[in-house]
Amino acid sequence: MIRAAILGYGNIGGGVAEVITKNQDQVAKAVGDSVEIKYVLDLREFPGDPMEKKVVHDIDTIINDPEIKVIAETMGGDEPAYTFTKKALEAGKSVCTSNKELVANHGPELMRIAKEHDCNYFIEASVGGGIPIIRTLNEALKQEHILNVTGIVNGTTNYILTKMEKEGAAYADVLKQAQDLGYAERNPEADVEGYDACRKIAILSSLMSGKNVDFKEVYTEGITKIGAEDFLYAKKMGKTIKLLAMSKKEENGYNVMVAPFYLGENHPLYPVNDVFNAVFVKGDMLDDSMYYGRGAGKLPTASAVVADMIQAAKNLGRNLPVEWSDEKETVLPVENTSRAFFVRLDINQVTPQQALDAFGGTLVEVEELSDEVGILTKVMTEKDCKAKCEALKGVKGVIRVEA
Ligand code: HSE
Repeated sequence: MIRAAILGYGNIGGGVAEVITKNQDQVAKAVGDSVEIKYVLDLREFPGDPMEKKVVHDIDTIINDPEIKVIAETMGGDEPAYTFTKKALEAGKSVCTSNKELVANHGPELMRIAKEHDCNYFIEASVGGGIPIIRTLNEALKQEHILNVTGIVNGTTNYILTKMEKEGAAYADVLKQAQDLGYAERNPEADVEGYDACRKIAILSSLMSGKNVDFKEVYTEGITKIGAEDFLYAKKMGKTIKLLAMSKKEENGYNVMVAPFYLGENHPLYPVNDVFNAVFVKGDMLDDSMYYGRGAGKLPTASAVVADMIQAAKNLGRNLPVEWSDEKETVLPVENTSRAFFVRLDINQVTPQQALDAFGGTLVEVEELSDEVGILTKVMTEKDCKAKCEALKGVKGVIRVEA
């Protein structure tokens, strides 16, 4: 029997216990031995819970128990998860995490420590919830030069945008629903301001490159400025609005960004709705591929953690190398990237013709909004678009457009 521990018995930690218990037949078949949860670390007690008697409050109980070989870290946040993970790896225990903040902050270091101690730091559940995108990049697509990864990688914001579009629902009401469903982060800012997606695309970019893409260098914009008006224009243009996390390999670095985008019906990410995530991957040999599934929520995320626990249990005493070094990858300045934009303008301050002269492109009008027009601009650099918006009066909002 392989004995494991769970650090943090919240939504995802509870899910890990549930997956291991309910699917113990599958887990045992995959590992070739049964897996039992021996400890659950949490500050709280859980009277009446099936794990009640396994709850401990001191990490050293787990670290000092030689029977524990595999640990699920589902605490979230940087500390104390960082200290606990380091201690566990230094003791030769594999750690399987859903904690993207920790992975984005310390991924290469923790992977190096795992290597030095013949164990593993596995991170499948840190990106894309139940979608096995990490294993796909680390194993199935290892023969490829990955040129482009573009994803909807935050379930909460996708849920919010979908409800706003389909039901005309108000932003605050839908955010509350997402929190009640257990999709949102403890601090909703991390989802709606794009910080969660930023960390996830930094992780994916690092795996694309093999060097470290620092999430602090990734241009990030959330969905807090998206309103009902933007969806009126979307409907008129036959488009939708999605929070995209994208990373494109260029000759001298990576173009990485998180922002809301207008997407046309033919874009592969257009039909990805609700809490679902999808990651589009372009390889130099493979060409286009896409991976789709539940991007947040208790059981899908826990399922990914358990997949890693199986992998860890099958490889006790052996490190499976991951190419993600401490060396810094270049994140290119967003100002030089080019695309079309959708600009909303107050016609009390600027005439449609003046706007068209400035931006080029086409005029879009919607009946419900009599005081404004939209311009779907020609392709221009971010720098150009910003300069034109600053020079022109009456700009009410700008959303990027992905062809
Ligand atoms: N809050 C995250 C999301 C959870 O909504 O995608 C999964 O990482």
